[in-house]
Amino acid sequence: MPTYNLNVNKKNHTVEADENMPLLWVLRDLLDLVGTKFGCGIGQCGACTIHLDGAASRSCLMPVSSVGDAKITTIEGLSEDNSHPVQKAWKEVDVPQCGYCQAGQIMTASAFLEENSSPTKEEVRSAMHGNICRCSAYNRIEEAVNLAAK
Ligand code: FES
Repeated sequence: MPTYNLNVNKKNHTVEADENMPLLWVLRDLLDLVGTKFGCGIGQCGACTIHLDGAASRSCLMPVSSVGDAKITTIEGLSEDNSHPVQKAWKEVDVPQCGYCQAGQIMTASAFLEENSSPTKEEVRSAMHGNICRCSAYNRIEEAVNLAAK
């Protein structure tokens, strides 16, 4: 089996994996970073969102062999002590219901705000629309993203 050198949350890891193994399973099963969730496995729900060189990316569709030297950030590496402004806003608004989709939501929101720090409410809605929440906490999700943007 091939080996891959991955930079995850600012640490280097060498993993042995099938070239087609999705990054999601490398993170969860080989590196024990289980904050990133499996939802649909077909790129439709956003639960598996991580940052690849700062851009929100869906890890369920990404073969480990395609990652190369890109820097991977998972929810575990987004901040020290959950102190990222998006995480703080999430707590303040008390966003989660079941919580399952929240890591993906936060990773999408944080990458978006990095690119657009003063978005309109419409831009927030548009940026977040691809992340599905089965509890329909969309109002609180948008409220938290807008709060983090302030
Ligand atoms: Fe990757 Fe749904 S699990 S988009």
